[in-house]
Amino acid sequence: MLIAGNWKMNGLSPALGEVEALVRELKARPVAANVLVCPPATLVSRVAAAASGIIAVGGQDCHPQPSGAFTGDISAEMVRDAGGSWVIVGHSERRQYHGETNTLVAAKASAGWRAGLGVIVCIGETEAERLAGQEEEVVDRQLAASIPDAAGASPTAVAYEPVWAIGTGRTPTTEDIARMHAHLRSQLTKRFGSGARMIPILYGGSVNPRNAKEILAVPEVGGALVGGASLKAADFLAIIHAAPVGS
Ligand code: PGA
Repeated sequence: MLIAGNWKMNGLSPALGEVEALVRELKARPVAANVLVCPPATLVSRVAAAASGIIAVGGQDCHPQPSGAFTGDISAEMVRDAGGSWVIVGHSERRQYHGETNTLVAAKASAGWRAGLGVIVCIGETEAERLAGQEEEVVDRQLAASIPDAAGASPTAVAYEPVWAIGTGRTPTTEDIARMHAHLRSQLTKRFGSGARMIPILYGGSVNPRNAKEILAVPEVGGALVGGASLKAADFLAIIHAAPVGS
């Protein structure tokens, strides 16, 4: 299982105390799950230093190019150079507020692999799309166009994050999550064959200490991408410890 925290645009220097607490607790009580924290870019190197190899660190986005005249952007190589080993691409907030298309997300995923990073590709339908019964169609399109063919042979995770569940406290039912994850698994297998087995499907959207155990026990849920509840070590730890033993 991969339990990943996405801090989004949250975290100043004092937030490093949360990482230190997390690392201390995980040293005292090791877990089988892989734990990842994706802080804002300004904190990646300091979180990596505090992680002491106990947790992995990642970026929340990267530019497709390795370097160049792209003011304000950060390349996958820079994430790696700062101590990151993962990068999130295609988060719905990037798609929504920065107009990122599936094609751009695919280019960013390729950049992540080029830099030697694992890549978490986010997909998920809006509430209107779900109400119209189009959720499978939408994620199929996103899967096909924002995940490059190399995913079958490169470190990759898919994060299914229904947009309407992000930051809202609302989650799909476990039946809905099970149905969607089974669907995504069959799509990945169709496309990548046996390579698909290496691609966990994370659930994201309002995962918290109260619902984590139930969600992480759903078949084909290979971990979680956690926003708000990853900012405090105590909450994030509770989610990490909710991962099924031996996963
Ligand atoms: P949330 O965010 O856990 O705060 O809903 C999840 C995400 O956007 O990755």
